[in-house]
Amino acid sequence: MLSRLTSQKIPPLRPVPCLSEDALAGLVRAPRSMPPKYFYDDRGSQLFDAICETPEYYPTRTEDALLAHYAGEIIDQVRPKHIVEFGSGAARKTRQLLDVCDELGGAAAYWPFDVCESMLLESGRRLVRDYEWLTVNALVGDYLAGLQHVPRPPGSCLYLFLGGTIGNFSETQAQRFLHDVRAQMSADDHLLLGADRIKDVAVLNAAYNDRQGVTAAFNLNLLEVLNRELDGDFHLPQFEHQALFNADDSQMEMYLVSSCNQSVTLKALQKTLDFHAGEKILTEISRKFTPERLNTLLTDAGFNVVQHLQPANGYFSLMLAKPVI
Ligand code: SAH
Ligand code: AVI
Repeated sequence: MLSRLTSQKIPPLRPVPCLSEDALAGLVRAPRSMPPKYFYDDRGSQLFDAICETPEYYPTRTEDALLAHYAGEIIDQVRPKHIVEFGSGAARKTRQLLDVCDELGGAAAYWPFDVCESMLLESGRRLVRDYEWLTVNALVGDYLAGLQHVPRPPGSCLYLFLGGTIGNFSETQAQRFLHDVRAQMSADDHLLLGADRIKDVAVLNAAYNDRQGVTAAFNLNLLEVLNRELDGDFHLPQFEHQALFNADDSQMEMYLVSSCNQSVTLKALQKTLDFHAGEKILTEISRKFTPERLNTLLTDAGFNVVQHLQPANGYFSLMLAKPVI
């Protein structure tokens, strides 16, 4: 069974800063920030999976329901020999598409690409167990570092970027990423992009401030990562989770807020960070889109939108797009 699950590292095409470099650039002086990819160590990936189960976090349920409804149509239209998924995580929603492939005799291979190797292997093991025809070729790497080293197997390819993760990119990162994906694609290929939409602020705020505190634990786990990897002494009880909607930029913003005046040392960097009470680290943006904005993003990157799938409440969009050849 294990021979149907392989794993390979995808070398970066463009140089990507390592954690030390990102921490030096982002933490030493205000305004402080860290890239969101560092959330996803083993524990962070499990915590994200748990966020998806919270009653407040509507994106996962909404996108899953859309996929359940439209998977047949999508697979019928695309007939993929390969499914390549960026930021695949636990790959639960992907099963809606794999179930349809299963019904059609199961001839597709799955290529999940993620920065978190443990989650790739855990989800890969579950998938090869549950789909006896499926080959899983796990790809470990950073999807913002260029995609030209991602294998391009022969036959039609369905590229997936689900969950609204495009919203965690700046405008420049989103444009460049879509351009990189487009450059990988041939005429028969499709991209299925999931993106979160602008909606009632109360719904957004609740989704990023769940009552069980799972999102808070996910956010604070970043400090555990810094403590472990950079020999730091962040004292977690002295930082608080904050998530709020920035209406000017149409984005949720997550912060870790220092609850007192304090100094934190990162021994590996030989740096001491002085925080005053209320000082923040920006840990994530999560942009919320209009359908027009999504259309423009895709069109500008060289795609034709062939289908826009959305629920009646307009909470989330799935855009099926083809490269303009
Ligand atoms: N697609 C899944 C998971 C979304 S969470 C869903 O819709 O539920 C975001 C995923 O992207 C995580 O699995 C995380 O490990 C991965 N990720 C974050 N930054 C990344 C990067 N720079 N390169 C590759 N994967 C990344
Ligand atoms: C992965 N990404 C789309 C999630 C989001 O909603 O931006 C990450 C997340 N952060 C807090 N909750 C979920």
